[in-house]
Amino acid sequence: MGKKYLIANWKMQLSINESRSLAQELVERLALIKTDTSIVVCPSGPVLSQVAGVIRGSDLLLGAQNSFWEDRGAYTGEVSPANLKELGCSFCLVGHSERREYLGETDEMVGRKVAALLTQDITPIICIGETEDERDDGRREEVLVQQLSLALADAFRQPHNGQHFIVAYEPIWMIGSGQMIESEDVIASAQLIRKTLNELCTAAVADKFCTVIYGGSVDTINLSGFLSCSGIDGALVGGTSLTADNFMSLVEIASRS
Ligand code: PGA
Repeated sequence: MGKKYLIANWKMQLSINESRSLAQELVERLALIKTDTSIVVCPSGPVLSQVAGVIRGSDLLLGAQNSFWEDRGAYTGEVSPANLKELGCSFCLVGHSERREYLGETDEMVGRKVAALLTQDITPIICIGETEDERDDGRREEVLVQQLSLALADAFRQPHNGQHFIVAYEPIWMIGSGQMIESEDVIASAQLIRKTLNELCTAAVADKFCTVIYGGSVDTINLSGFLSCSGIDGALVGGTSLTADNFMSLVEIASRS
């Protein structure tokens, strides 16, 4: 694809006021620089509409952290993809490892969510990645292929009609850990993701409509290294996205890369 993405995952780390002020500061500082990188912020659910108001008319794009697979119905507590669209979300994280671990989100659920988001023309950011044990047991490839295949199974039952989707490779042992991962491992995973996509939906569709990004302890020191990995066109950032100074440093690094 070529276009770069920097996606801020604020998780459940900020109050409503903190979220609003961070969004406001990003809007003001982004207006002062030139960047070709697409910058997406993913606030927590209850804050989405307020942040949507703050960033309206700016270059910042809005993403949600979760959605359900039905637009409407008796699903207490769930998040409607149609409502996300109404709020102005153009992106949504799906299958983040924290949701898989704490909320029991399965590969099948991820697949249904991806299909529902695409129907709403919301770009799913599909998070896949192996645990430390799976890596040590030499099961990384198997895990990534399974997660990706099931994430796209429902969506690819229909002919692809031009929607963009993002795959975020997030080794679970890297998230929030500050550990190091070798570039070769990131490149090998990006290649595996591409190969799997080519088999799932043809290389022509995958090349044109899918962006692969990296996530897990991305910071101002290591971002340029990740962005120079072949096959990686952006980053999903948790901790380093929580202050305007840190996140704007990442934006500047991405814009120069
Ligand atoms: P981190 O989180 O940058 O704090 O490791 C990334 C993520 O969970 O998406």
